[in-house]
Amino acid sequence: MGGHRSGEPPLSRRSLLASGVATAGALALTPVPATAQTGPATEPFHGTHQAGIATGPQAHAVFIALDLRGGADRDAVRRMMRLLTDDARRLTAGRPALADTEPELAALPARLTVTFGFGPGLFEATGTTALRPPQIAPLPRFAIDRLERRWSGGDLLVQICADDPLTVAHALRMIVKDARAFARVRWTQRGFRRGAGIQRAGQTQRNVMGQLDGTVNPTPGTPGFDRAVWVGEGPGWLHGGTTLVLRRIRAEMETWDAADRVAKEFTVGRRMDDGAPLTGTREHDEPDFAKLNAAGLPVISEYAHIRRARTADPALRIFRRVYNYDEGLSADGRADSGLVFASYQADVTRQFLPVQERLAEADLLNEWTTPIGSALFAVPPGCGPDGWIGEGLLS
Ligand code: HEM
Repeated sequence: MGGHRSGEPPLSRRSLLASGVATAGALALTPVPATAQTGPATEPFHGTHQAGIATGPQAHAVFIALDLRGGADRDAVRRMMRLLTDDARRLTAGRPALADTEPELAALPARLTVTFGFGPGLFEATGTTALRPPQIAPLPRFAIDRLERRWSGGDLLVQICADDPLTVAHALRMIVKDARAFARVRWTQRGFRRGAGIQRAGQTQRNVMGQLDGTVNPTPGTPGFDRAVWVGEGPGWLHGGTTLVLRRIRAEMETWDAADRVAKEFTVGRRMDDGAPLTGTREHDEPDFAKLNAAGLPVISEYAHIRRARTADPALRIFRRVYNYDEGLSADGRADSGLVFASYQADVTRQFLPVQERLAEADLLNEWTTPIGSALFAVPPGCGPDGWIGEGLLS
């Protein structure tokens, strides 16, 4: 753009606008470098395991729990699962669902995954309680819990994740419409992570509290992950599946904001900026839980979140695939936000429960977090091109 040379009139708004238009025109003619478009990207639907667990977390998620209608028996649930599997198979491949009312919306799957889970009530309704693993039962009540029914329980879980919120909305609509004859919606929980492409793949995300969240987590594709996540014992129909504990945990943002950085770091046992343990310098440094400060006290508190949550045996770790929620503001501007905390593990009783019990008993983080929802599901294995999710249990 021209500068203001002496003898020429100063740039007027009109000339700025005119030169802006010229620049925009010139830009339009400049070839735009091809950037990777993530809209057409797909995640395979078929396989030993359902997608949406080991899958690199997509930016957007909705979890819905459905309750079977009275009279929805094994035959009905089988029909429903065939129908919903068909929807998921098509939509995840970027194809419209059968009788899709907005077929154009299916064209950009944006790594869509649709994952199904069975809650305790589904076994009763379908007469399959003999095949229900004992771990698929409501969790015990923890002293820290302030559970609300509107975020808890459910017979059937559908977890829908994609890198695009419109794709998620469309898949949700198609699935819910097809489930309507068999089940009613119990709750819906929406979650988000960093937008797709915002940071390097594999980099730990931050949660709404500003912490790096997910540092110590089994890595998909490793034997350790497979041992920790996929079921290999108990009733055969669940082999290759997993279990999901979904906790809705409110973050008490007003008081958290009032805490200083030292308090925040002491609470978790890691630094806010780089996520390094208080005894180390880099995010993935091993914490030194024995290290004492000058006063002879542990550098990482006895009650720090990472000390209380730690599981020594990697095969007994849980896999956290966590989303944030942020549902809007009260009239005086207070946030309603927190985590949609999704934990997958082969065995709830041996893996999730001991950690949750330790945290409920003592964890400095409890001061700023409140569990307000809780649900538990058996997540059946995946299926082949001619199969459907849940066939091992229901056919
Ligand atoms: C709002 C609630 C929570 C927040 C904000 C939170 C945050 C964090 C943060 C910042 C870390 C350290 C970085 C990392 O390794 O990811 C962490 C670690 C961890 N959290 Fe949480 N967490 C929450 C709830 C829970 C719950 C409910 C559980 C399980 C019942 C849990 C289990 C773990 C485990 C297993 C680790 C890794 C511990 C280790 O270093 O071995 N967290 N969490």
